[in-house]
Amino acid sequence: MPRTKSQAIAEFGDFQTPPLLATRCCALLKEMGVDAATILEPTCGRGGFLLAAADQWPTAAVVKGIDINPAHVAKAADTVRSRSDNARFSLDCADFFELDLSAVLSDLAEPILVVGNPPWVTNAHVSALGGSNLPTKTNFQRHKGLDALTGKSNFDISEWMLSKLADALNGRDAMLAMLVKNVVARKLLHYCWKRDYSLTRANLFGIDAAAHFDVAVDASLVVMNFGPVIGPRVAHCYDQLSESRQPCRTIGVMAKSMVADLQAYRQTKQLDGGSAIKWRSGIKHDCSRVMELRQEGNQFRNGLGDLVDLEPDYLFPMLKSSEVSKVADRTSTRWMIVPQQRIGQSTAEIVHHAPQTWNYLQHHRDLLSNRASSIYTDKPEFSVFGVGEYSFAPWKVAIAGMYKSLRFGKVGPRHQKPVVFDDTTNFLACPSQEAAELVHSMLATSRVQTFFAAFVFWLHFLRNRR
Ligand SMILES: C[S@@+](CC[C@H](N)C(=O)[O-])C[C@H]1O[C@@H](n2cnc3c(N)ncnc32)[C@H](O)[C@@H]1O
Repeated sequence: MPRTKSQAIAEFGDFQTPPLLATRCCALLKEMGVDAATILEPTCGRGGFLLAAADQWPTAAVVKGIDINPAHVAKAADTVRSRSDNARFSLDCADFFELDLSAVLSDLAEPILVVGNPPWVTNAHVSALGGSNLPTKTNFQRHKGLDALTGKSNFDISEWMLSKLADALNGRDAMLAMLVKNVVARKLLHYCWKRDYSLTRANLFGIDAAAHFDVAVDASLVVMNFGPVIGPRVAHCYDQLSESRQPCRTIGVMAKSMVADLQAYRQTKQLDGGSAIKWRSGIKHDCSRVMELRQEGNQFRNGLGDLVDLEPDYLFPMLKSSEVSKVADRTSTRWMIVPQQRIGQSTAEIVHHAPQTWNYLQHHRDLLSNRASSIYTDKPEFSVFGVGEYSFAPWKVAIAGMYKSLRFGKVGPRHQKPVVFDDTTNFLACPSQEAAELVHSMLATSRVQTFFAAFVFWLHFLRNRR
């Protein structure tokens, strides 16, 4: 099918950096004392960053830009042609995923400044658009088992690009400075720290992505200095493009874990250790139209709009993640069909215990067997995930995974049945109301809140076009 222009823009994360922002980023790097004999912009587009960097480092002998889009490269070449210093520029149309980066970098004089703004798009989004702008090997984080099959192996293509750049810059005298989503910056830093790469220092400078790119996501200029020694595994985070104020927080690695706020961690690290109860996630079924129902009198309406009669055996009251912290809200009429009590359990006996439920599931077997995620392959039909004894605990202390706050809800049984959640909620399973009240009150203390703040990297989710 022919691609629309906006699909192509989305697939290639093609949002050119406003010249003022590129200039401001390069000026900050200059203020930080960055030097450059070579400048490389590996996804240079029409050259916004490339030209801003060239102006900031007039003595850099080589200014090299690469982009996959021939029209962008031609536009950048046009602009460069009119400059008196055009001899030091080289522009190539190439696919980053096909580049031999060590070869590209091998002849470049140091210090090397790699600067720019790679595409902000995930592999899942590219695939959903029917695109192919992806590396061939997608499980580069080496996720295993279920993690490899579920969303954990989804990644930003810039994360892949920047990890390859870090591989090639490790051990060189170089600076990597890129505009990225904060989640990408964090994963990139973790990638380098885990591998003992020769990072001498790292900083994040927040930008207003909504103002510059019309996108609701936390983003920064990540600045990583590669050099002769391995520096401390910390990165100071500033809320704007300036080092003039104190960092708003410092992220780093402690006992092999990424810590979102080192100060909060130091204040509460005594709490770090094992726990008798485990955080669990809600039930994953990937078919809310069939598996989630609304009660209407004695009947249930599914997400397809059909009224259905089902036995109570496999039905459980459920709360959406937006409802878990609303303790007073007893009005939810949602129910979920939970056909298994543990992962992989046979579903064949449903026909004997609850024939109407069996017929209902059979009636919708196409929708259920066409669920996209490969976690359902080779599993009993109508399987769900994230189900176990804990799903049926009478009391739970829960938190919505999608919201930017540490508000925990205490959830007890309804209609004499345990309440279940979907997989956007995390919870601690409790055997009794007293246990839930104790856990809930402990989680509300400022000490525990500080402890969690040390580990939680709050995310905004992409809500619009970019
Ligand atoms: C966010 S834009 C930024 C452009 C430029 N760096 C700037 O700052 O203005 C991302 C750029 O990456 C380019 N791009 C996307 N996929 C690429 C690939 N596989 N190889 C090289 N360039 C790519 C797009 O064409 C686009 O110009």
